[in-house]
Amino acid sequence: MVVYEIAAQSFQDSNGDGQGDLAGLLQRIDYLTWLGVGAVWLTPIYNSPNHDFGYDIADFCSVDPRFGSLEDFDKLLLALHDSGIRLILDLVPNHTSDQHAWFGESRASRNNPKADWYLSAEAGANGGPPNNWLSRFGGSAWEWCEERRQFYYHSFLPSQPDLNWRNPEVREAIAATMRFWLERGVDGFRVDASAVLIKDDLLRDNPPDPEANDEKPPPQARRPVFTDDRPEAMRCIEYIREVLDQHDGKLLCGEVQGKTDRIGHFYGNSKPRLHLPLNFALLDSEWNAISLQATIDAYFNALPQGAWPDFVIGGHDKHRVASKVGQSQARVVAMLLMTIRGTPFLFAGDEIGSEQVPIPPDRVQDPFEKLVKGFDLGRDPERAPLRWDDTEGGGFTSGEPWLPLSRDRARNIKAHQGDRNSLLNLYRELIALRREEPCLLRGEYLPRRAQNDIFSFGRRMNDTEILVGLNISGEPRLWEWDGCGIRLLSTGPDCKQEKVAGSIHLKPNEGVIVKVIR
Ligand code: NOJ
Repeated sequence: MVVYEIAAQSFQDSNGDGQGDLAGLLQRIDYLTWLGVGAVWLTPIYNSPNHDFGYDIADFCSVDPRFGSLEDFDKLLLALHDSGIRLILDLVPNHTSDQHAWFGESRASRNNPKADWYLSAEAGANGGPPNNWLSRFGGSAWEWCEERRQFYYHSFLPSQPDLNWRNPEVREAIAATMRFWLERGVDGFRVDASAVLIKDDLLRDNPPDPEANDEKPPPQARRPVFTDDRPEAMRCIEYIREVLDQHDGKLLCGEVQGKTDRIGHFYGNSKPRLHLPLNFALLDSEWNAISLQATIDAYFNALPQGAWPDFVIGGHDKHRVASKVGQSQARVVAMLLMTIRGTPFLFAGDEIGSEQVPIPPDRVQDPFEKLVKGFDLGRDPERAPLRWDDTEGGGFTSGEPWLPLSRDRARNIKAHQGDRNSLLNLYRELIALRREEPCLLRGEYLPRRAQNDIFSFGRRMNDTEILVGLNISGEPRLWEWDGCGIRLLSTGPDCKQEKVAGSIHLKPNEGVIVKVIR
């Protein structure tokens, strides 16, 4: 199942207010079906003051009016299901907006019924923050609350207070929001910031990061050992999974922090945790055959027995892959993503090679960019609205788009649909091939030695063996292997299925898929 991430705000506007909405998304279901995606992951659509792209939620069981209504949501869900597409929602259990009624109550005094629903602490010795913990978005992670004469903790913005997951009432309240959506029929969740749900109860200071220097953003000055990836956070994920498992056939993906070697941990041991801890290793890897070989090997090695892998090549927090590797290699990325063992995740626009869109300073929306300047951390460039056609509003809106669209008007869905050699059509063919070849879906992964700038691997299931050779360079390369087979697909234009024997001459930036004949 291919998972396609959609940020509703940037996908399709239906009412000319410059922001995408649910009715707009509904109009585009035919496109999703045409492309062949199996599931949509929708970023937050809930009521929110929208200080952080909707990840600051004021009511978990609602739809923000800028996206539509609950009725629109139900219509959308029904239409997706009728088209055989599942819907995964973002679940943000770590924090709420400071506009949430829970926080309004909690902050009012030290002894109201919700007083312990958020993380609060007494001031430090000098009247300053309780300890040295830093917010990801810059500065201390503690904010003074005058009403309680205490500090409260925020992993992200001060307007995103962290919930207290040690409090069973909080757990139950989040479980109730999950049930609200599960009973409406959603197919699962992507858990936001799952690794930071619990912070050290002794409030111990984080140690300095020995690798920190002036080139690293200030929020990374300390190693977050007492705030991130605490063992108790795993209990919280297990709890979320238990709630999910009370409904059949639902999926739990999750944002996890840290290095690849920690990822196995998020699958769970005696108790299950996430089905799919999201793996961004490809995006973090250097783009050459040797590095890819090491990155992918480290990832597979980190998986526990029986764990199902996944690979992510785009997301609303990540710079566009096409900007990283270039348009020619974007085709190779598509082939790698759709042929390697694991569930593929892509972000709307990746299928046409969308690139980072330059955002003029007066149009910047992302708080990360505003607060931690000079480190290229802004996420607006990848969040720019999708271009459906080459008109001024890109087929996205008839109004003023909330972020500028790409000026590369030719790179749009309509044009790519009409060009059989486009990246979009390559994605479509690859997705179709995954469906036709069970070996590409479920076959085991067979590592091969990267050589001559070619990253290659095999997949095997029963008697079927498929080989994939990816030329990661801009020069022609000889891909040497023994045996013969049928070339199923190439990233190059107008590839015909044909018989190949032994070594294959790969064109610059070419990838090929070969089904071995025995
Ligand atoms: C992770 C989300 O992906 C990101 O966009 C957001 O800023 C933070 N969580 C805070 O909610």
